[in-house]
Amino acid sequence: MNDKGNGGIRIVAVLGTARPGNFTAKALALVIDEIKKHRDIAVQVIDPSTMELPFPGADEDSAQTRMLQETVAEATGVIFSTPEYHGSYSSVAKLVIENLGFPSVLAGKPVALLGVAAGQIGAIKALEHLRSVLSHIGAIVLPGPVSVAGVQSVFDDEGRCLDDQIEKRIRSVATNLIDYTRRNICPRVALEAMTRRGPPVRWVPPEREAAGTSE
Ligand SMILES: Cc1cc2nc3c(=O)[nH]c(=O)nc-3n(C[C@H](O)[C@H](O)[C@H](O)COP(=O)(O)O)c2cc1C
Repeated sequence: MNDKGNGGIRIVAVLGTARPGNFTAKALALVIDEIKKHRDIAVQVIDPSTMELPFPGADEDSAQTRMLQETVAEATGVIFSTPEYHGSYSSVAKLVIENLGFPSVLAGKPVALLGVAAGQIGAIKALEHLRSVLSHIGAIVLPGPVSVAGVQSVFDDEGRCLDDQIEKRIRSVATNLIDYTRRNICPRVALEAMTRRGPPVRWVPPEREAAGTSE
């Protein structure tokens, strides 16, 4: 995580596949790039292929699980990306969800969704299933999930998107989450911080303070 978002917005982006050379990462890279245009926002990618997440319930105290939960707990908002595998979202994305705790640290967090698929109907089913599960665990799943169909024809070998309209839609996953967070989460966080600090200290003239009358 870079430190630009220190005290500000922190976004965690989950890559929902570990398939070598996967297209989900190429789409997610555009979302990350869009987030990085905002200098006050920190972004961190969760890449399960670099982790050893235990099977659900197998080792709830694993260091990887704890690290994952701490990272997501500190996030202001989350992006979930998934390929469509067998008419649903990936088991890798589900493994991440299972490792977020029960109850989940995702509860109450805004989540924006991105799905990609080789098929022409896109990742509609994957996104619907993902929305259902994330809502079940209490996440605030934002409207406007982005589904990319025929994804194998959308990027070149270097990961450049070959279609401006599709690129715009993919980038909107970032702006959607950022706009929501700035409008709804940041004011709440600021209010909570004020409440913790207590009301502003009122200046009392010394003579009244000495007399014990502040009014
Ligand atoms: C196990 C598996 C199941 C898949 N099932 C579907 C599917 O149901 N519908 C579809 O459009 N594509 C399916 N695909 C193709 C993926 O959508 C394709 O690999 C695409 O590039 C997105 O996944 P990726 O991020 O792994 O590249 C499947 C691929 C795999 C490996």
